[in-house]
Amino acid sequence: MTVCCGSKSCRLARPVPQAESITPANPPPSGTPEAVFRVRNVSKVYRMGDVEVPALRGVDLELYAGELVVLLGASGSGKSTLLNILGGLDVPTSGEVDYLDHVLTRASEVELTRFRREHVGFVFQFYNLIPSLTALENVSLVTEIAEHPMDPGEALALVGLSERLHHFPAQLSGGEQQRVAIARAIAKRPDVLLCDEPTGALDYATGKVVLEALAEVNRELRTTVAVITHNAAIAAMADRVIRMSSGHIAGIERNARRASPSELSW
Ligand SMILES: Nc1ncnc2c1ncn2[C@@H]1O[C@H](COP(=O)(O)OP(=O)(O)OP(=O)(O)O)[C@@H](O)[C@H]1O
Ligand SMILES: [Mg+2]
Repeated sequence: MTVCCGSKSCRLARPVPQAESITPANPPPSGTPEAVFRVRNVSKVYRMGDVEVPALRGVDLELYAGELVVLLGASGSGKSTLLNILGGLDVPTSGEVDYLDHVLTRASEVELTRFRREHVGFVFQFYNLIPSLTALENVSLVTEIAEHPMDPGEALALVGLSERLHHFPAQLSGGEQQRVAIARAIAKRPDVLLCDEPTGALDYATGKVVLEALAEVNRELRTTVAVITHNAAIAAMADRVIRMSSGHIAGIERNARRASPSELSW
């Protein structure tokens, strides 16, 4: 798997002066699958004035290179908090998160920003496209600042939108808009794609098309993909299913066989 974007500016790629580097993590034991993320005893407590809200309570987890995982769990169980911490959008209150051989939880703000920009693609429930730009232009915004991007048209082709390059968001269906958002997220060739309820706002048929696009990205680009959903049927398309409950990992199951999104029904 691509360990790094290869960018000259990438701190995760090469030795950098000691004062600036992200702290190296301990190497994994030999013979274990390559973990992209290692989460060790991570807790997150949000403070609201005098009130403390525990969102994560001692989470241990690994995500492996090239796998597709689905995260399930009741509302408030900590799924988004965990995904945001993996993606460097938030930091835990305690515990350690390693990305490859670097300790994210000791990274500075600047380093986390660079980590997000170079290594992580995000897809959210609402697409956050710029309404005054076409599909191609929305994706191009990202490719213009990435080091080794895909061609924006190629990214849109991968999600089945070659016929919609010059449509504005208002001229696209919800599922098409979400696929533009996926194309935008993958166009910089991230190592991981983190998706928080990507089909939450979509109807059945459209949701399936979006899941097909995520499976395609995982298959073609070998991008590690994590998908949060409330729809338990989606779990069948995963390599592993991670169940969360009250800030804990309640269980992890491995599917003997991954279903294709077209086989799912709910
Ligand atoms: N910024 C915040 N400030 C305070 N509390 C928060 C914040 N973000 C999340 N929480 C709380 O942390 C807990 C976990 O929230 P989180 O968003 O991770 O849940 P979730 O599993 O993604 O839920 P949902 O399925 O509803 O999206 C909840 O009790 C929530 O109220
Ligand atoms: Mg959530």
